[in-house]
Amino acid sequence: MKCRIFGIDFKNPVFLASGTFEFGLIYKNVSNRVGAIFTKGITLQPRKGNPPPRVHETACGLINSVGLENPGVEVFSRDILPQMRKLKTRIIVNVAGFTPDDFVKIVGELDSRVDAFELNVSCPNVKKGGVAFGRDPDICAEVVANVRRVTKLPVIVKLTANFCDPLIVGRRCVEAGADGLSLINTLHAMAFDIDKKRVLIKGGLSGPAIKPVALFCVHRLKDLGVPLIGVGGIMSGRDVYEFLLAGASAVAIGSATLRDPYAPLRIIKELKRLTTSG
Ligand SMILES: Cc1cc2nc3c(=O)[nH]c(=O)nc-3n(C[C@H](O)[C@H](O)[C@H](O)COP(=O)(O)O)c2cc1C
Repeated sequence: MKCRIFGIDFKNPVFLASGTFEFGLIYKNVSNRVGAIFTKGITLQPRKGNPPPRVHETACGLINSVGLENPGVEVFSRDILPQMRKLKTRIIVNVAGFTPDDFVKIVGELDSRVDAFELNVSCPNVKKGGVAFGRDPDICAEVVANVRRVTKLPVIVKLTANFCDPLIVGRRCVEAGADGLSLINTLHAMAFDIDKKRVLIKGGLSGPAIKPVALFCVHRLKDLGVPLIGVGGIMSGRDVYEFLLAGASAVAIGSATLRDPYAPLRIIKELKRLTTSG
């Protein structure tokens, strides 16, 4: 199950997706057995996140509106990262910026103390009227090029399928120096409260409902020449196998852990059985 991606050795290709397993410090026996943990999104300043409701279950998935609640890079770096470093897994920091400069500052602060960075380009760019970075191939390329100058560690860009063909943004990111791409972040979604006749929640859809979209995106970008991390609706070893066949080098498990924190261990076991049975 060992694999080498971005020049780094991982104990297996099953990682934990950003935002769904906190910092991996609660279920350490799970964290220690996966290939890597993507941290929840880290911003320059601490964020309290959104008011409730933050999570709403839908048919085959869930809508979340957590709003990037996190302690900010300073507290993460001082108090949380040292604890994470004791885990027996790779640490990939999910970097969430609201300006192009945020990404550079956060990466600069953490460089050489983690294994890799994942740039979350789904946030609104406040310098460009709140339009999400991931919608603009030029800005994404600029962010990657700037981050590239401050770190030699692998830089992965987490793409969104919300706005446009991720192939266009993905290709520009790779040309600008990205070492890999993860696909996909949650999809824009909402639910209505018909009793109160108002919007119940607007947020990001995840879970099995988005797996076919994520799979399509991985397959579409498979010839870009960089490793791809498949993310979206993975619930079983068979799902992982499907992503690997579609062109992913590894996968990340998200919503499945909200239902069962031990799901990654079952998934690893199932994948092992599938890959050794030929
Ligand atoms: C509660 C929750 C919080 C999330 N937080 C982040 C985040 O901070 N940064 C990020 O890039 N993605 C975040 N995501 C997206 C997941 O990492 C993943 O891309 C998405 O949920 C699809 O995978 P899944 O269907 O396996 O959950 C979050 C998802 C959920 C459900």
